[in-house]
Amino acid sequence: MTQTSAEAAGPAAATVGVVRESGADERRVALVPKAVATLVKTGLSVVVESGAGERALLPDALYEEAGATIGDAWAADVVVKVAPPSAEEVARLRSGQTLVGFLAPRDADNQIAALREAGVQAFAVEAIPRISRAQVMDALSSQANVAGYKAVLLAAWESTRFFPMLTTAAGTVKPATVLVLGVGVAGLQALATAKRLGARTTGYDVRPEVADQVRSVGAQWLDLGIEAAGEGGYARELSEEERAQQQKELERAITGFDVVITTALVPGRPAPRLVTAAAVEGMKPGSVVVDLAGETGGNCELTEPGRTVVKHGVTISSPLNLPATMPEHASELYSKNVTSLLDLLITDGVLAPDFDDEVVAASCVTRGEN
Ligand code: NAI
Repeated sequence: MTQTSAEAAGPAAATVGVVRESGADERRVALVPKAVATLVKTGLSVVVESGAGERALLPDALYEEAGATIGDAWAADVVVKVAPPSAEEVARLRSGQTLVGFLAPRDADNQIAALREAGVQAFAVEAIPRISRAQVMDALSSQANVAGYKAVLLAAWESTRFFPMLTTAAGTVKPATVLVLGVGVAGLQALATAKRLGARTTGYDVRPEVADQVRSVGAQWLDLGIEAAGEGGYARELSEEERAQQQKELERAITGFDVVITTALVPGRPAPRLVTAAAVEGMKPGSVVVDLAGETGGNCELTEPGRTVVKHGVTISSPLNLPATMPEHASELYSKNVTSLLDLLITDGVLAPDFDDEVVAASCVTRGEN
């Protein structure tokens, strides 16, 4: 990172800036006051943009109590953010600054070229490798957990049926059956949450090692005989033949479920199509599909990203940015991810990323040299 004038006299402690998110639906904040207090204790100065935590119900006063100052967070040495910056936000940064946050490195319309052009050093939390040592920094996972939980609540809300079994004087209601397709972080949380609501749960994935995790949260494992484990704990894309077989088998399996929650993802690829229009048509009217993969096109053929539609009597909901609907806990978890990454980037108060470290190297999307 380019040295500031203060550093010329000796390394000054870096300042960390917490900015206010500009997205209309973005209610999260990159650091909660508790995380700010931790950073301040290590000797760092933290500047918070006024109102940064407001939509997460965290007023400026709480940040001041935690040791931050309210001011121009965009001028800090390290700016921390949640959502990828807009072009206007990139324009507020100057050469030599560092940015940490979701930067959508795989999206075609991201701002990474603009950040490079501006001489900003940027670390994308999405690019942190999924290795044991980096679990505490894994923001994709912490936020997917929130999404998996909320997807089930949404399904229960849209459902015309109870989730739990009910035995009442007026009769007995059978528990709902819930199928989760793609059991990574969001999927496993969805299974656990649906189980807690009393549903009969089943999980399906193409990575065979997931079977034990599915069973560990009290769900049944749906085995379709297709294995597609890929690199780094992710699945590989299926061949045409495998895809056709999977869709056919799923079409049969899906019809028996009240609720299908889809979370299948292959990094950098369009969302795998798991639920065909014919599968939806085969479901009982009143059933629900919640498709978490809307941002990459959807796992269901009838998904309309960001919308809830009813097709063949089945409600298909594809919510975007569910973590922002739970800003308190989502921000708290994200804060822990961010402070852990900062811990790796800052040594004795001075920003000094070690590019030989695989987490630093993988997450750095631009080095700030133009
Ligand atoms: P993950 O990588 O942990 O899990 C994805 C799972 O899909 C993996 O277990 C993988 O093996 C499985 N999979 C891939 N191809 C498959 C196929 N053809 N058939 C069956 N399973 C397959 O991902 P994570 O973090 O759980 O996220 C899941 C999805 O949720 C992603 O699409 C992500 O973008 C989305 N998401 C959506 C949010 C929202 O608010 N809508 C918020 C957070 C995540």
